[in-house]
Amino acid sequence: MDIKLVTKRTEELRTLINYHNRRYYQLDDPEISDVEYDNLMRELLELERQFPEIDVANSPTQRVGAAPLEKFSAVDHLTPMLSLGNAFSEQEIVEFHERIKRFLNVNEEIRFVTEPKLDGIAVNLIYEKGLLTVGATRGDGAVGEDITVNLKTIPAIPLKMLAAEDNPAPEKIEIRGEVYMEIEAFKKLNRRRIREGEPPFANPRNAAAGSLRQLDSRITARRPLDIFCYGIGMVTRKTFKSHHEALQALSLWGFKINPHIGQAGDIHECIRYYHQINEIRQELPYEIDGIVIKVDTLELQERLGTVSRSPRWAIACKFAATQETTVIEDIIIQVGRTGVLTPVALMKPVRVGGVTISRATLHNQDEIRKKGIMIGDTVIVQRAGDVIPEVVKVIEAKRNGTEKIFNMPPLCPECGSEVVRLAGEAASRCIGLACPAQVKERIKHFAARGGMDIEGLGDKIVAQLVEAKIIKDPADIYFLNKGKLLTLERMADKSANNLLNAIERSKAPPFEKFIFALGIRHVGEHIARLLTRQFTTLEVLIRTTEEELLTIKEIGPEVAGSITKFFRHPSNLKVIEKLREAGVKPVGTVQRPSAPLAGKSFVFTGTLSAFTRSEAKEIVESLGGRVSGTVTKDTDYIVAGESPGAKLQKAQSSVIAVIGEEEFLKLTGRRQNK
Ligand code: IVH
Repeated sequence: MDIKLVTKRTEELRTLINYHNRRYYQLDDPEISDVEYDNLMRELLELERQFPEIDVANSPTQRVGAAPLEKFSAVDHLTPMLSLGNAFSEQEIVEFHERIKRFLNVNEEIRFVTEPKLDGIAVNLIYEKGLLTVGATRGDGAVGEDITVNLKTIPAIPLKMLAAEDNPAPEKIEIRGEVYMEIEAFKKLNRRRIREGEPPFANPRNAAAGSLRQLDSRITARRPLDIFCYGIGMVTRKTFKSHHEALQALSLWGFKINPHIGQAGDIHECIRYYHQINEIRQELPYEIDGIVIKVDTLELQERLGTVSRSPRWAIACKFAATQETTVIEDIIIQVGRTGVLTPVALMKPVRVGGVTISRATLHNQDEIRKKGIMIGDTVIVQRAGDVIPEVVKVIEAKRNGTEKIFNMPPLCPECGSEVVRLAGEAASRCIGLACPAQVKERIKHFAARGGMDIEGLGDKIVAQLVEAKIIKDPADIYFLNKGKLLTLERMADKSANNLLNAIERSKAPPFEKFIFALGIRHVGEHIARLLTRQFTTLEVLIRTTEEELLTIKEIGPEVAGSITKFFRHPSNLKVIEKLREAGVKPVGTVQRPSAPLAGKSFVFTGTLSAFTRSEAKEIVESLGGRVSGTVTKDTDYIVAGESPGAKLQKAQSSVIAVIGEEEFLKLTGRRQNK
């Protein structure tokens, strides 16, 4: 292919992939199937492999994440990553200014740059000849952890600096910034985690930190992380005279700079800025915990130097935390879909940062013990990262002796079954299979939008149906009739009809929604989709093994174990059977067009090294293809192993593709070292 054409096509593919990444990761609203996406990516990877002269530095192929690491290695920062001294009041800002003036012994006004102080994770990015080579956490300031592969997955971090003639990329440069997660993205991620039976993150900062410190960068790649850059560490050639100029250079090189950064002619303007930002703080899409004031002139910065690992030329001015005091009136237990018991504090309602709060999750028994919380305690509450209410600490001085110790109940408050706590787990779980709380949650999940999508089957109706013992499992929904529905409170003829129609309509769900609806632990919408790519029918999925699941990229031992356990459980199989009897039939289960080998016919000849023939057959079938013993005009592929037979000769005289075992492994998405 002509290099011009190749360049044009790679550009097209990159634009398309970037567009679909945005639809998937940021808007949560993909326009194309995973298979179509993978095809675009595969085509691009192939072109980049074949034409190494095409620059890949800025290609989306560099951002997909890599195989998991054993552990992070240590990296030295080229210049130390300092921390900041704090000011908590106007007076302390004024004192900061006076210190500087005394130290520099100057009379003229000092200019400052004022910046929001992001509440995220500090990172150091090293670029050599304009290319991102190392990315690290702050660590102890001198040595951090190498998280390069993770940082490369963040769309806002340039893999290659944009260089212009008047703003060339230096030979080597360290760029500092704060990785964060937007509040909305954080809430969406938490909603998803809760749906998938995983513990939610306490606040956006923890979510960002947890995502960045993943040993498996493919997980990081799916987390909505962002960055603002705010400074330069070591640089081989300094051309700017002020911090503000440096920020402008960063922006021209393609780094994201916070749009609220300001310039101040004197310290009074800095104080005004502090109040202004405090005012708009709640409207920002990300969390900040203060502002940073920095002396603008680099020459003055150098003269000021550092004291005990904080620069004299900068200070963090923290906002007063949005905290209030209230009383814990009771601690109740909530039972989730997977049986986890979560203690929740019921508090005297109190306004925190403009919002009234009256409950806060206490997470688990360990957390309660750690914080020393008792029922009746006066406590300080805050909205963690200003979003989720959180009990910060107990004010012990307010105790009067009537406070009561809280213990996890030995029996589930919803069904009376035993509560167990597995070794190594913080969570206590109810082991009652028929626990109505779990049943309610499971049925709600089953009927919800991402699952069977039964309109009108909301929380209240599910609760009534379960309490009246009309339904005990998700399959019972399909045995409802008008007579049963009309026994419910406030259920009129018309809404009963509507609900029955919606139930009827839900009988042919897309296969992936059906799998998601089953509520298998750790199987969210994404994993469900992956499973339908590999397994075209429910029967094959039910029979799968952990080993087979582990061959799917993105599925690890925990998820694989959870899936096989689910399908081994007799009561789950009974529900699935009951659904089938009721006429629920997932669509797209047979020969889905998106099944990678749909309609393709395979013939094997010779001995395979990684599989037996019957294993190979099962793989082909699970991907929608067929295996036949003889070569006909319908054969698409002949897979030739060691010492192939006559079938191969037959193929060679026709147009059928002959592939080796290695290509077969690639075609079926199996890793070779199975
Ligand atoms: S400047 C020597 N600017 O605050 C200057 N830091 O306590 C060091 N941070 O580790 C940092 N926003 O994680 C700077 N606009 C900003 C910042 C910022 C957030 C964090 C950063 C740093 C910590 C310092």
